[in-house]
Amino acid sequence: MHDLTEKEARERALRLRREIREHQYRYYVLDAPTIPDSEYDKLYRELQDIERRFPSLVTPDSPTQRVGGEVSPAFRSVPHRSPVLSLSNAFSEGEVMAFVRRVQEFAGESRPVTYVVEPKIDGLSVILRYENGLLALGLTRGDGLTGEDVTRNVRTVKAVPLQLRGLPGEESVPEFLEVRGEVYLPKDDFVRLNEERKEAGLPLFANPRNAAAGSLRQLDPRVTARRPLRALFYEIREMIAPGDASGVLFPDPGDPAASPTTTETGTLEFLKGLGFPVPAYTTATSASELVSSISKWDEHRRTLPYDTDGIVIKLDDRELARRMGFTGHSPRASLAYKFPAEQVETKVLDIILQVGRTGVLTPTAILEPVRVSGSTVSRATLHNEDVIREKDVRIGDTVVLQKAGDVIPEIVSVIKEKRTGDEREFHWPDVCPACGGEVLRFPGEAAHRCTGMSCPAQLREKLIHFASRDAMDIRGLGPAVVDALLDAGLVKDAGDLYSLTAEEIRSLPRQGEKSAEKLIDAIDASRQRPLARLLFALGIRHVGQSASYSLADRFRSLDAFLNAGPDELAEVPDIGPLTANSIVRTRSQPSVTELIAKLKRAGVKAAVSQDEPARSPGGSLMGQTFVITGGLPGMTRQEAEEKIRELGGTVSSSVSKKTSAVIVGENPGSKLDKARELGIRIIPAEEFVAMAQGRGSRI
Ligand code: IVH
Repeated sequence: MHDLTEKEARERALRLRREIREHQYRYYVLDAPTIPDSEYDKLYRELQDIERRFPSLVTPDSPTQRVGGEVSPAFRSVPHRSPVLSLSNAFSEGEVMAFVRRVQEFAGESRPVTYVVEPKIDGLSVILRYENGLLALGLTRGDGLTGEDVTRNVRTVKAVPLQLRGLPGEESVPEFLEVRGEVYLPKDDFVRLNEERKEAGLPLFANPRNAAAGSLRQLDPRVTARRPLRALFYEIREMIAPGDASGVLFPDPGDPAASPTTTETGTLEFLKGLGFPVPAYTTATSASELVSSISKWDEHRRTLPYDTDGIVIKLDDRELARRMGFTGHSPRASLAYKFPAEQVETKVLDIILQVGRTGVLTPTAILEPVRVSGSTVSRATLHNEDVIREKDVRIGDTVVLQKAGDVIPEIVSVIKEKRTGDEREFHWPDVCPACGGEVLRFPGEAAHRCTGMSCPAQLREKLIHFASRDAMDIRGLGPAVVDALLDAGLVKDAGDLYSLTAEEIRSLPRQGEKSAEKLIDAIDASRQRPLARLLFALGIRHVGQSASYSLADRFRSLDAFLNAGPDELAEVPDIGPLTANSIVRTRSQPSVTELIAKLKRAGVKAAVSQDEPARSPGGSLMGQTFVITGGLPGMTRQEAEEKIRELGGTVSSSVSKKTSAVIVGENPGSKLDKARELGIRIIPAEEFVAMAQGRGSRI
């Protein structure tokens, strides 16, 4: 190449940038490159070379400038211009049909409705803002109201346009645009990344979603840049449409002049035109078409380069969708249908016993590690003897595995045809593997129990429970620290926690000055926890959170609770004779009296304060029993439970015929299946939260 003058260099750089952008668009958006990678690389290197020789010609939106600047100390929080919503979930065809009926009822029976079906990309939600066609801001969803500023990191994602197609200032580019999409790591790249990490001795990512989130939330954008992240965009949150002088923000489908399109499919095409990669979609015009398109997507998704956990159904008519409004945090006109759990085969290598805090021995299958629904699974609970017998699981068996509610690994069945004769039945031991105490199965119970009075495994679980979030909430006292305390012989029960010194904690492995101090502070703060939490923390059999609240409500002090007779206990709502008996028996155990004496001496207050949620007899949920499964948006589990109690309802941990409704949040567990089985009413978490926060209607 001859030596360029600055003028020639400027012209050449401009041409190269345009050409490179065009090739990126063809590659990332149209998925139809027109030149081989090697030629693209040549153009890119030529541009790099020119910019190196003429640094003054470098522009911030040049394709070479995706990575810039240095490591930032933290991500800045930025409030969203409008809340970032989520979708209601459906898990069965029946729920999809019900959705279609709701839409049709709203639209009018005779009006034809077109549904758009898109894959639900299992990645990380991002919001991008463009000002005068240039990428100005990239935010994570955060809590829906405030996100984290990840601009420098999203810039490194090559599928994200740094500038919109068409040149800034031209009429075809919106003056202001905010879009929402999903950043993901392709499945192949995820496998490759984990292989590299394994070789480097680094911890592995559980699934592509975590890998994408971990990659995007890197303080050093150079690390993000090395991860082959991709993105797809599906929503215009706000826009001043090209050529629109009124400044009206899209989406305002009521004003066709202000929006380039009145349909969802039109929006996707429009986004594509601006340079955004968009998901593939199909359309359906009836319930039956919708159902058949769901099964087509279920087949097709395996061939997609990214993980999907479902599909998203939207209305093509944006004006109709807008008129349907919202329930809580979700638009009524959209639905996320989650695919039934993926099933895989694996082998049972062993069956071991885990000792719980009440001495229950839970058989757990150790599995040949296998990938299912996005993560690698190597164990699954077998619950109890009856389950092992019913499913006839033996060591050495080949089994079908799935994740219940897409989270909890579960053995569905044994493939008996694959038995070789070498399989071994599991036999219950007579003594506890942890302490040698006698193991018994009490009449009428499914569980085997270790009856050892000083079983170290039970003590470990008791301490973990005592410190857990819903009990005494001692931050920093997790399983690892509990193990270290027990190994060092520093605690014999939870009461001993209160006499620990910072020095003693510092002497434990992996504990520094700071963490020791923090832990001492956390233990100290737990002295103020109210009575209900202390009763729960004691871990008395049958006394769950809900019973603890009822007991605290009735007795108002630890002493009154300790002195109450069995009949008095059994009269408390939520407490039957079985629980009353369990309380009486536990209370009189020497280890428990000693523990309580220590707690009192340590100054654990166990007070009932004004804000202790009291039952309001006339509350709107009076007489109803609720079960919660999965995460709630914008509310902790505890807050939700307190709200239910405040309104006179009862919270239970298991679903039965007596359950009034199950509140279902993100990643629900097997309780949801049970509710469906029993035909119990299902309330989407968003709806509950809206009600609880006084925004929605009664549930
Ligand atoms: S539409 C009002 N479309 O799924 C909500 N969401 O709760 C608009 N997601 O975290 C969302 N693929 O980030 C939509 N094709 C798609 C999607 C999608 C993935 C995510 C979204 C959100 C969750 C739904």
